[in-house]
Amino acid sequence: MDLKIIHLKEIDSTNRYCYKLGREGKRNVVVIADMQSAGVGRLGRRWYSNYGGLYFSILLDLEDREGSIGKLNFIGSISVYETLTDYLPGDLKNSIGIKFPNDIIVSTPREKKICGILSEINWDHKFVVLGIGININNYIPEDLGDTAVSLRELNRRENNRFEIFSRFLNRFRDNLHLGDREILKKYERYSKTLGRYVKVITPREEIKGTAFKIDYGGIYLSTLEGIRYIPVGDCIHLR
Ligand code: BTN
Repeated sequence: MDLKIIHLKEIDSTNRYCYKLGREGKRNVVVIADMQSAGVGRLGRRWYSNYGGLYFSILLDLEDREGSIGKLNFIGSISVYETLTDYLPGDLKNSIGIKFPNDIIVSTPREKKICGILSEINWDHKFVVLGIGININNYIPEDLGDTAVSLRELNRRENNRFEIFSRFLNRFRDNLHLGDREILKKYERYSKTLGRYVKVITPREEIKGTAFKIDYGGIYLSTLEGIRYIPVGDCIHLR
């Protein structure tokens, strides 16, 4: 798939920018920015986007991907996982993984987030935006130090952001061609959530249980009250 790349020095949010392009009818575009003044995270949170990180969004046609937004999220997270693993020192290669639904975390030994993914759909104009933020060489502010980590802190060097970006795009293009079984198998292999006792927080409730299955639509927990299937929520690893 041919993707046109637009590189900006600074923008409010690459997701917002792609949204504008999407409404104008553009497709198959990747917008990457050195900094974002108003980076958006999941559940309306802010995504801190200072210089040194990778912040980009991929704009795709929804018709081509209908019914498979969950799949696109999985392809995004497995591609980030595979890209970053190559940059980690040997002793940390087993520490990286995917936390449901699509955070990339590293056990340091405390689990910290290195990448977040935000996908957004526009049904009227039929496009999807997959926004990815990866902490590469950027400074992690003190108030996030317990929960976030950069690649530079892990491999103790200044990393080439554009090399990482281009390796990601290659992985992403390759993974886009995989069938559901292969994608799910990879996701399961890279998951740090499966088999764990977790708490999933939804707008309506908090559910605790052991995660035993994850698919494009959500997560299955074995709880004291039986099996629960939860489409969206914030997942916290308890043990
Ligand atoms: C999350 O909360 O985990 C998702 C974070 C997604 C951040 C990325 S950075 C590039 C793109 N532009 C945005 O405004 N957000 C996404």
